[in-house]
Amino acid sequence: MKQVILKVDDFRLNDGLTKFEKLVAICERHSVPISMGVIGAGLKGGRFRSQQLFAQLIQADKLELWNHSFNHRDMTELDDATVAWEVAATTTACEQALAARPIGFGAPFNRCDDRVARIAHEQGMGFTFEVSLPRAVVLTPEYNVPFDGQPNLIEFQRRVERKQRPDLLVVQIHPGRWLTRGFDEIDACLTWLRDQGYSATTVGSLLNLQSGATKAVTAHDMLVAKLHDRWLSSASVLDSKLRNFSSYFLSRFRANSRPIRELLPSIDADLGARNVVDVGCGLGQWGLPFFEFNKDATVWAFDTNTVLCSTLAEARAERLIPYDLRVEQADFTTSTKLPAKGVDVVVCANALNYIPLAAFARQAQHIARDGAKLVFVNQTSAFNHQGVLDALGSSNLSMAKERALAELRQQVVRYGFAGFTPNRTTLTDAELEAVLFAFGFQLSDDFTPPWERSLAGSPTFSGTVFTRRAWLTLASLPDSARPEYRKLLCRAGHSALDDELFAASGMDSDDLTLWRLKARSGSPAPMLVPELEREHELGRLSDARDFAAVARFVMSSDSDSPEWLLAGAVAALAGEDGATARQLASRIAPAELAPKTHRLLQAACYLAESDARAASALLQS
Ligand SMILES: C[S@@+](CC[C@H](N)C(=O)[O-])C[C@H]1O[C@@H](n2cnc3c(N)ncnc32)[C@H](O)[C@@H]1O
Repeated sequence: MKQVILKVDDFRLNDGLTKFEKLVAICERHSVPISMGVIGAGLKGGRFRSQQLFAQLIQADKLELWNHSFNHRDMTELDDATVAWEVAATTTACEQALAARPIGFGAPFNRCDDRVARIAHEQGMGFTFEVSLPRAVVLTPEYNVPFDGQPNLIEFQRRVERKQRPDLLVVQIHPGRWLTRGFDEIDACLTWLRDQGYSATTVGSLLNLQSGATKAVTAHDMLVAKLHDRWLSSASVLDSKLRNFSSYFLSRFRANSRPIRELLPSIDADLGARNVVDVGCGLGQWGLPFFEFNKDATVWAFDTNTVLCSTLAEARAERLIPYDLRVEQADFTTSTKLPAKGVDVVVCANALNYIPLAAFARQAQHIARDGAKLVFVNQTSAFNHQGVLDALGSSNLSMAKERALAELRQQVVRYGFAGFTPNRTTLTDAELEAVLFAFGFQLSDDFTPPWERSLAGSPTFSGTVFTRRAWLTLASLPDSARPEYRKLLCRAGHSALDDELFAASGMDSDDLTLWRLKARSGSPAPMLVPELEREHELGRLSDARDFAAVARFVMSSDSDSPEWLLAGAVAALAGEDGATARQLASRIAPAELAPKTHRLLQAACYLAESDARAASALLQS
């Protein structure tokens, strides 16, 4: 769902209420709540009428107030005590003049850093625009050429389009400066946003700041609030150790903890679990809810990151987390700390793209009791497509290239050229299922994390739950299903695992498709058929990651196989050889690739030629 926040800056009561009331009337017509920043020094002389008006609007959820400082100065240039005074004095002025409290903070000129945000938080502000909305895109419809400061629909549309119509938009306005035509234009902008599928919200409801009144506060909510406050206050120290700690991990912890807690009972996870392992735990938002379901549980939180682990361990040592949390700063796949066959639940969210799947599965098989659950949240290929659009939206050409190439490489792996990306990051559920089957896990549930984005209806993350079944062994695979199963393993990029598992199996030697996949993986296929020799040669070059040679080999082959041509084009892109990539790509008929892949390949060729505009146009067509 696309959401928009109407951020109104610079409200001063001593400007009078006329313009404010005009804006309210327009917003009421569009059912758009107002998120308004008040300047403390402008609130002198509050009157009964303003108090009544504001109370009514706030009560009806048509208005939220945030603190925009007292003197509207650049907070990053002031010392701690002055920043604290600016915030506190504005809150007091607001309470006196408007009989209402600001619920958050927004920095003058949008100039903010973690220190300022921390101080605002210490002064009771539930959010700071500049740090609490990491994915937000702040746009103003106010036309700055020729500097008249009035909203302008056409210009606004251009700006939103340029940002690829993001899922969350913050529309920043200054109605105190508007003429009549400014109000007419904002009316048109709001109509247009609604037509684009945007629904309006406030920061309070987006971050759940006010809904606490309607939703029961759980023990987990209290734990999260306590930890979040503690970590936010030390975020500036932590940030110097780990860049973006506060804005990435902390905001994920804050934003996702409650939805994760609410999701767990609806999936096939084991809520009463005694032994839970959170792999690549970050700040533990997946492992910690299990304490609410069973306060006697033991949760092992594994992460290789020093800062995340020490942050969690400190919270445990200070008894902020009063449960049996065991923080392990270690690689999960090689740890010997866990009890063999003693674990009930393993959660691995957004981390499998860093961890080799077979090594993960081997360890999971070793520690899981019969009936244990594995819960995964993994990126889908829509995540990569979205990543390209996001990068183009922020004019980051090299990032766009990288994301497009990452996705294309994975498509090439599906044709058997495993060397293109030894560790695939966006396995389909079927591919994941194939690999985990080899280790005795059966797919038992799937879900879509509702808090993540989707691209044209395709979710960017997918959730799966597996159950350990002691009876599930490779021997239970019927002979007739084996060749298909082995192909799936190879397409998942796990041809080496197939080699290992089926080393003794000569029975599938007549399946040419399987042997083609194996030849392409570069494995020294013992039963190599002469017609696969060239496949094997290409596979060997891919496995050696000699992409220039791969591209040359395909170019000189005159092959019209779309699989070879895609491999050649992607290899050329990997070597930044846009001309060869385009030549090979142009030989693939659109119908021979999935439409999304075909478009992405063409777009990647444009990107290799630094034509971001053409790439954007193509991807949005
Ligand atoms: C994107 S974060 C995910 C954090 C959290 N699970 C979440 O959903 O927000 C991935 C984490 O995996 C950790 N990680 C990477 N390789 C790991 C390994 N072999 N064992 C344990 N943790 C690992 C990283 O340090 C990182 O904190």
